[in-house]
Amino acid sequence: MRAAELFIEKKLDERRLAGNYRALKPESTLVDFCSNDYLGFAHSAVLKSKIDNEVKISGLISNGATGSRLLSGNSNYTDELEKYIALVHKSEAGLIFNSGYDANLGLFSSLPHRGDTIITDELIHASIIDGARLSYANRYIFKHNDLQGLEDKLKQAKGNCYVAIESVYSMDGDTPPIGEILKLTHKYNANLIVDEAHAVGLYGFGLIDEHLQNQVFARIVTFGKALGCHGAIVLGSNLLREYLINFARPFIYTTAAPVHQMAAIKMAYQFLKQSLTEIEMLRNNISLFKQKIKNNSTYPLIKSDSAIQCVVLKSNEKAKAVATDLQNNGLDVRAIVSPTVPIGGERIRICLHSFNTAEEIILLTNIINELINVG
Ligand SMILES: Cc1ncc(COP(=O)(O)O)c(C=O)c1O
Repeated sequence: MRAAELFIEKKLDERRLAGNYRALKPESTLVDFCSNDYLGFAHSAVLKSKIDNEVKISGLISNGATGSRLLSGNSNYTDELEKYIALVHKSEAGLIFNSGYDANLGLFSSLPHRGDTIITDELIHASIIDGARLSYANRYIFKHNDLQGLEDKLKQAKGNCYVAIESVYSMDGDTPPIGEILKLTHKYNANLIVDEAHAVGLYGFGLIDEHLQNQVFARIVTFGKALGCHGAIVLGSNLLREYLINFARPFIYTTAAPVHQMAAIKMAYQFLKQSLTEIEMLRNNISLFKQKIKNNSTYPLIKSDSAIQCVVLKSNEKAKAVATDLQNNGLDVRAIVSPTVPIGGERIRICLHSFNTAEEIILLTNIINELINVG
C-alpha cells in the first residue's frame, strides 16, 4: 500500500475507534426531525409551481451559468435579485455566493488582513473558522455568549477588528445578547458580522431588524435552510460588495449558480412573506416540544427558543444509541458527536418543523423522556 493510502487508512481507523466515523446514509423515509427545512419549503408543491412559472415567464432558458460571474456567468436576473434581497433585508447591497460556506469563506478570508483581528464565539460555524484561518489575521475565541470574555478579547484586538456571531446558533439553537454585543463592538470600534442562517424563517427575514441593521457591519443569510433552496448572500454596504467582487476568492474562482436557482430563491423570498401560517405552526410546535420534554439534570436540554432543540448526552455512544432508538421508532433524529461538538457536548439535535404533527412531537418527547430517564 502507498504511504498516502496508509495515512488515509490510519485516519479512518482513528475515527472508527473514536466512534465518530462519518458515512452517507440513504434517503430517509422517517419523520423529519433533522433537516433545516423548517417551514417545509424544500418540498412545497405550491412553491415549486411558482418557481416553474417564474422560470417560464422570465424566459430563463439556460441550464448552466457557463462561467464565473466575473466572466460569462452573470445575469441581469441575478443582479436584480441581489437588489431585491438587499431591499427586503433593508441593507444597502448584497452579493450572492454559491453556498453559505462559500459566503463565509469569502468574507472572512478576504476582509481581515495580517495585523487585523477576528473574534468569534466558540460555537461559531465551521465556515467562519475556515475563512478566518485563511485570512492571516489574529484570531481570538470567547466563551459562548460570554460578554466579559468578548470584552477581554476586544481589549487585546489590533488593526481592524471583526466580531462574528450567529443570531441563532446552529448547534445549540440559542440566541446571543445581540444588543449587548453591539454596544461592546461600538465601544471598541469593532465591526460586528452576524450569520443569520438559522434565524431566517422562524424570525421572518432574520433577527437583525431595521433598528439593528445600520449598526451591523455585515450579515450572512443562507438560502438552503428555511428558504428551502441553496446559496447565500452577504449583506452590507455597496463598498463591501465591490470589495468582495474584487477579493473574495470563493466568489471569483467558481462557476456561478444557474439562473433557475436564482428564480427559486426569489420565489422562496416572496413565499416567506406569505407564510405567516407556517411560521405560526412552527412556533406552536416549538412550544409543544418544550412543554412535553422533561428536563433531566444528567442529560440537560440546551436552553433554546428556536427550531433547534438539543439534549446533551455527553458521549458519542449514548448520543448514537438514543438517535438509533428514535430512528427505530420512525423518527429521524441525528446524533451530533465530537469533534463536531466538543467532547462532553455530544447530543441529539432535534430540528422542529411547521409540518411536524402534534402526535409526532408527543411520540418524540415520550421516547426521549423514557430513554434518558433509564440512564
Ligand atoms: C450558521 C451557519 N452558517 C453557514 C452555513 C453554511 O451554509 P450552507 O449550507 O449554505 O453552505 C451553515 C450550514 O450548516 C450554518 O449553520
